[in-house]
Amino acid sequence: MATARALFLLGAALLSCTLIGASSRGVENRRSLLLPVPNNGPAIFDVTKFGAVADDQTDNIDAFRAAWGEACKNSTTQAKVLIPAGTFRAAQTMFAGPCTSPKPIIVEVIGTVKANTDPSEYVTPEWFSFLDIDGLVLTGNGVFDGQGAASWPYNDCAKTKGDCAPLPASLKFAKVNNSIVTDITSLNSMQFHFHIHGCSNFSLSNINITAPGNSPNTDGMHISSSDSIKVFDSVIGTGDDCISIGHSTTNIAITNITCGPGHGISVGSLGKRPEERSVNGISVTNCTFVNTTNGARIKTWMGTVPAEATNITYEGLIMKGVQNPIIIDQSYGSNKKTTPSTSVWKISNIHFRKIQGTTVSNIAVSLQCSTSNPCEGVEIADVDLAYSGGPHNTTFVSSCSNAKAVFGGILNPPAC
Ligand SMILES: *[C@@H]1O[C@H](CO)[C@@H](O)[C@H](O)[C@H]1NC(C)=O
Ligand SMILES: *[C@@H]1O[C@H](CO)[C@@H](O)[C@H](O)[C@H]1NC(C)=O
Ligand SMILES: *[C@@H]1O[C@H](CO)[C@@H](O)[C@H](O)[C@H]1NC(C)=O
Ligand SMILES: *[C@@H]1O[C@H](CO)[C@@H](O)[C@H](O)[C@H]1NC(C)=O
Ligand SMILES: *[C@@H]1O[C@H](CO)[C@@H](O)[C@H](O)[C@H]1NC(C)=O
Ligand SMILES: *[C@@H]1O[C@H](CO)[C@@H](O)[C@H](O)[C@H]1NC(C)=O
Ligand SMILES: *[C@@H]1O[C@H](CO)[C@@H](O)[C@H](O)[C@H]1NC(C)=O
Ligand SMILES: *[C@@H]1O[C@H](CO)[C@@H](O)[C@H](O)[C@H]1NC(C)=O
Ligand SMILES: *[C@@H]1O[C@H](CO)[C@@H](O)[C@H](O)[C@H]1NC(C)=O
Repeated sequence: MATARALFLLGAALLSCTLIGASSRGVENRRSLLLPVPNNGPAIFDVTKFGAVADDQTDNIDAFRAAWGEACKNSTTQAKVLIPAGTFRAAQTMFAGPCTSPKPIIVEVIGTVKANTDPSEYVTPEWFSFLDIDGLVLTGNGVFDGQGAASWPYNDCAKTKGDCAPLPASLKFAKVNNSIVTDITSLNSMQFHFHIHGCSNFSLSNINITAPGNSPNTDGMHISSSDSIKVFDSVIGTGDDCISIGHSTTNIAITNITCGPGHGISVGSLGKRPEERSVNGISVTNCTFVNTTNGARIKTWMGTVPAEATNITYEGLIMKGVQNPIIIDQSYGSNKKTTPSTSVWKISNIHFRKIQGTTVSNIAVSLQCSTSNPCEGVEIADVDLAYSGGPHNTTFVSSCSNAKAVFGGILNPPAC
């Protein structure tokens, strides 16, 4: 930490020098950059023209902010912020709208953006955030490197069951609508890789999310309070849920994700806090899970304010060596051995269809619902799993409590 702090100060000192040098050059560059390029493509706001330096050391936050400000607030033609090849350091950065430039505003990242490693430099739990934007395109094959290894040892969220100060998410999108993120890599976030909150009509594709399987709470994507979000054609390997779908979400479609290592694709956890509202309309289709702790999971806390998780379909999934391929857990966050779930959350209209592959658990299908709100309308159909854990345990079962489940088609393990 002491070293990170020293590096940060050194970065700040270098930055103030570069800015003095850049300001006189900047003006004429900026004027020419505001003109449309010959093919009528967007006007390009290259961060290096605003003083950014790709030396893996200078804190480029002021240059990033200046380029974004010109593109979003001052450009009269369509604008593109360009982070070119090279390694750019950046402390906590916010690209905030609303933008007045013609939609969409494009952010093209070709190089690598690296986070500052000292958690005390972050005033809110996100590193690189996009706020209040209607029509954003983030693309470019670039990398956001959260450099999480430096802060993972300080994460105590697992020990405190979430009652902790969260570390920054690498990429936070809040109130970002009608937007697209594609061809982006996120490496080693401090906590969440992507946090999508209060967004609508947002699609994410060709995303590569990579962190070690033992990195704490590094969810690939956490989606909350959002509507009409699509995530597809992406590879996620991380230390927590590949994708977690939180409260107050509707119409979330997840397709063609390879997940592993990680904790699976989860709806939840739900109900930890009283302000959490219902979830309706989630589909997880054509995904592959490799060596994950869970596959298709729905998890709720006991909760205090009633709400529901309904209209959820998991279909066309391949499991490879997964611990809990199909699991509903309404005792999340509590001591399961002594407390049966009395969750106030109601789970209904849930479909698990066409799920095949291997599992290392004897209980491949586990539906543990609330005694006070039994699950309703749970369908298990064409689930064909084989036990691949060793040594062979002849018990291979489904386990249900308080679940009104209908089983059909091929069933391995057999119905409850
Ligand atoms: C936008 O342009 C105006 C006038 O040129 C200038 O005063 C202002 O600082 C610019 N805003 C940003 C965010 O760069
Ligand atoms: C995006 O949509 C949300 C919910 O509909 C809304 O609250 C927010 O203001 C919108 N943001 C923008 C930038 O339009
Ligand atoms: C959703 O966002 C996309 C991408 O910006 C846009 O093309 C499309 O028109 C939006 N759909 C609706 C219903 O607004
Ligand atoms: C994802 O990114 C990591 C780190 O850059 C790389 O090693 C890996 O090959 C990438 N995976 C895919 C599927 O592109
Ligand atoms: C699934 O996504 C991968 C990228 O992760 C892509 O190469 C592949 O073509 C996609 N498959 C389908 C059926 O779209
Ligand atoms: C179920 O979810 C889908 C989206 O996945 C949505 O279109 C549909 O309206 C929902 N059905 C109900 C009854 O809410
Ligand atoms: C999932 O895969 C099946 C079989 O390849 C295909 O028919 C279906 O359209 C796919 N679903 C989605 C949502 O891509
Ligand atoms: C999954 O786990 C098995 C058994 O531990 C191992 O042999 C295999 O290499 C792992 N696969 C991946 C992709 O990590
Ligand atoms: C087999 O698995 C069942 C269910 O997990 C467990 O109760 C039992 O103890 C296991 N038996 C052996 C011999 O491991």
